[in-house]
Amino acid sequence: MKDIISLCKRRGFIFQSSEIYGGLSSCWDYGPLGTVLKQEIKNLWFKDMLNYEEIEPLDASILMHPLVWKASGHVDHFSDPLVECNQCHKRFRQDHLEDPSTCPSCHKKDLSSPRNFNGLFKTKMGVIEDEAAEIYLRPETAQGIFVNFLNVQESMRKKIPFGIAQIGKSFRNEITPGHFIFRTREFEQMEMQYFIPPGEQKKYFELWKERRYQWILSLGIDPSSLQEKNHETLAHYADFAIDFEFKFPMGFSELEGIHSRTDFDLKSHETFSKKNLHYVDQVANKKFIPYVIETSIGCDRLLLALLCNAYKLDNERVYLDLIPKLAPKQVAIFPLVNKPPLVEPSLKIYQDLKKHYRVIFDDQGSIGKRYRRQDEIGTPYCITIDFDSLNDQSVTIRERNSSLQQRISMDKIHEFLSL
Ligand code: GAP
Repeated sequence: MKDIISLCKRRGFIFQSSEIYGGLSSCWDYGPLGTVLKQEIKNLWFKDMLNYEEIEPLDASILMHPLVWKASGHVDHFSDPLVECNQCHKRFRQDHLEDPSTCPSCHKKDLSSPRNFNGLFKTKMGVIEDEAAEIYLRPETAQGIFVNFLNVQESMRKKIPFGIAQIGKSFRNEITPGHFIFRTREFEQMEMQYFIPPGEQKKYFELWKERRYQWILSLGIDPSSLQEKNHETLAHYADFAIDFEFKFPMGFSELEGIHSRTDFDLKSHETFSKKNLHYVDQVANKKFIPYVIETSIGCDRLLLALLCNAYKLDNERVYLDLIPKLAPKQVAIFPLVNKPPLVEPSLKIYQDLKKHYRVIFDDQGSIGKRYRRQDEIGTPYCITIDFDSLNDQSVTIRERNSSLQQRISMDKIHEFLSL
C-alpha cells in the first residue's frame, strides 16, 4: 500500500486533502490522472448499467428531508460499536479489532465497554443558525432512488422489473477510516436499485450477482483476487446479501455489496411520507410494493482495487497494468530528440491521435526515462519518432507490459491502436 500511495502522489493520481495545512484525516483529493481514472470508471459503470434498457439514470440531491433517514432506519440503526482505550484514549470500532479486549495502539488491555456511535454526518440548513433545521449528509445514495421510485416509473412509463442507477457522493462519520481511500468519511458510490415483483428476489439476486461479477472482471481484475462472501449479519433492510471481496494489501475486504432489500425501504417511506408508493400492474390488474435488489460499489474503493491489481514490479521497473479503456493516458508521443525536424511530425501525430485517445506529448529527458514515467501511470503505448521516421514514414511503438517494440508505418498507427 505504501508504494501505491507514494506512486499516486508522485504521479498526480491522489493527494492528501488540505496537505499544506497538515492534511485532513482520511480525506483525499484526486489529481489530474486520478480524476480521469475515476471519471472513466464511472463512465464504464453507467454505460454498462444503461445498456440494460430497463435501467434509467438518476442524479438526486445529497441533502434530503430529515424524515428520509428516519424512514430508512439510519437514524436508529446506523451505528457501530465504539470503544475507547482508557490508557491512550484512542477510539476504535470494536468489530474491527483483532482482539476485542486489547488496544491495537498501546496494546494495553483497558478498553471501555462499547457504545453505539451513529455514523450520520449532521449539518444545518437555513441562514439563521439557531433556527436552522438539522439535516444529514446522505450516508448512501440509495434513498434518493427510493424516494424517486414513482417519479421515474411514471415519467418514463417503466414496467417492473426495472432499475434506477445513480452515482454520487456519500458521507459517513466512520470511527476508523483508513487504508488510504479504502474507508473514508466522504466517498462516491455507484448504486442501482432493481424493482421486482415480490417473491422473485432469489432469481434477480442471482442475475445481478453474475452481471456484477462479470463487470468487475471486465475491468481487468484478476479473478483470483476476487471472492464472494455471504453476510453473516444482515443489515436491517435485507433478507439476503453477499459481498464481492477484493484482495487488498491488508487482505480480502469488501468491494461491492449485492443486497436483497425486500420492500423495506418503499414500505417505510410510504408510512413516513403518508404517500402511496404502490406500483400498479395494469396487465394483471394488481397493486403492490415492489421488492428491491441493490448493487452497491464504492467508486473510490474500486479505484483502489484497480490500482492494487494493476501495480506490477518487474525487476526494477514499476508499471500499472491498466486496461487501455481506463488508462488516464492511452498513448504517449516522443520525438527522439527535442529538435524541430522531429518535433513537427510528432506534434502532427499527437494532434491526430488526440481526436480519438487520451494522448500525452513528452520531449523531456532520455527515452528510457520517458518510458518509466509512462509505465508508472499505466500508458499502454509509447510512440517514438526518430530520424529514420523522416525517411521511411514509420515510427516505433512500444507496448507497456512486454516492453516489446515494433516499427509500423505512420498511416497505420490508428488502425494498430484500435485493435
Ligand atoms: N446502499 C447500500 C450501502 O450503502 P454498504 O455496504 O454500506 O451498502 C456499499 O456500502 C459500498 O460502498 C461498499 O461496498 C464500499 O465499496 C462503499 N463504501 C461504503 N463505505 C465506505 C467508506 N467509508 N469509504 C469508501 N467506500 C465505502
